[in-house]
Amino acid sequence: MIAVRKFVRQVCCCYLAVCCLAILNVPPSEASDNGIALTPPMGWNSWNKFGCNVSEDLIKGAADAIVSSGMKDAGYEYVVIDDCWQVSRDASGNIVADAQRFPSGIKALADYVHSRGLKFGIYSDAGVKTCAGRLGSSGHEYQDALQYAAWGVDYLKYDWCHTGKANAEWAYSTMRDALKASGRPIVFSICEWGTAKPWLWAKDVGNLWRTTGDISDCWDCAKKEALSFVKIVDTQDGLETYAGPGHWNDPDMLEVGNGGMTTTEYRSHFSLWCLLAAPLMAGNDLKSMPAEIKEILTNREAIAVNQDTLGMQGRRVRKDGDTEVWAKQLRDGSRAVILFNRGIDETQISVSWEELGYPAHLSAGVRDLWMKKDLGRFAGMYGAKVPSHGVVMVKVTP
Ligand code: GLA
Repeated sequence: MIAVRKFVRQVCCCYLAVCCLAILNVPPSEASDNGIALTPPMGWNSWNKFGCNVSEDLIKGAADAIVSSGMKDAGYEYVVIDDCWQVSRDASGNIVADAQRFPSGIKALADYVHSRGLKFGIYSDAGVKTCAGRLGSSGHEYQDALQYAAWGVDYLKYDWCHTGKANAEWAYSTMRDALKASGRPIVFSICEWGTAKPWLWAKDVGNLWRTTGDISDCWDCAKKEALSFVKIVDTQDGLETYAGPGHWNDPDMLEVGNGGMTTTEYRSHFSLWCLLAAPLMAGNDLKSMPAEIKEILTNREAIAVNQDTLGMQGRRVRKDGDTEVWAKQLRDGSRAVILFNRGIDETQISVSWEELGYPAHLSAGVRDLWMKKDLGRFAGMYGAKVPSHGVVMVKVTP
């Protein structure tokens, strides 16, 4: 009873503090500084494949598959339930999970995920409702953060639907402070779709922020309110200076394995996400994953580029029509390079050492990260034939 009173008192005090700041129109000011996500988060999220069809069995199955497929060993860590797990609030305002779909409750599910050596994530929204129309956290930020911490949540994806005229920096700072006050380190994933340019203000607010609207599982299609893979790639060019350890640009979750692109295109998608230091959140059905998809998602040499501890996001160094060169500086001074062919014919693409910031006369070793093979030493440049819609991804080491 005393514990319940203490909890209610804590929630009321926090809520009062938020109201005072709202009246003064002052954004909450504690820096996030939660010391986590020093490399881009890796994991799996339910949304891209399963949408609202989430359940305890689905999440447990995903956790099991991450372990048995070798994805855990390759670095995937967070298992995140996206929208639709919540159905109501109880008389005290606590968020309530769907008892039919999560009969054992969220705490038991988090315990299960933890027992597999993984971390557990959940989803909410800064507005009154989530994007799928479930209850959001507006006005319940501190209460929800305390609840998440009590359940053992390690990652919160926080969406931006039904927020009216709310100020994004203010709303996300409020949840950041609530998470901090909960006392549990929780990766904070800002899902504001880039509308208020979070790269300009979110470094001290979240660990990652969406830079675009929702990804679609297609190479270059035009779907309402969704973006194809290549359109998203274009929007990332120029954002590289804003990313770094603990704070990442998020071009949305992976579609690899969801069926809308060819294996070659999925390899390009994964390679670009690795080079962009993007969070690697798989979004496919892990239980029925073909060998070639598993091979893409678990390519340790590509993942090492993504997880490089220097934490530099790669950038586009050249675009000539449908042929592009992207490069990322790595901690040991080497460069990861992608020769990217967006055209319909196989094409020769080259990169010069000068474009990578090396002297022209240098001789450098080149390793192909998909063939997993050293190709030898090259003077001044490297070039290769790149298949239509494909990449050649290499590491260049002077
Ligand atoms: C928004 C987000 C998606 C997903 C859905 C859930 O569209 O951008 O990633 O979380 O909401 O409703």
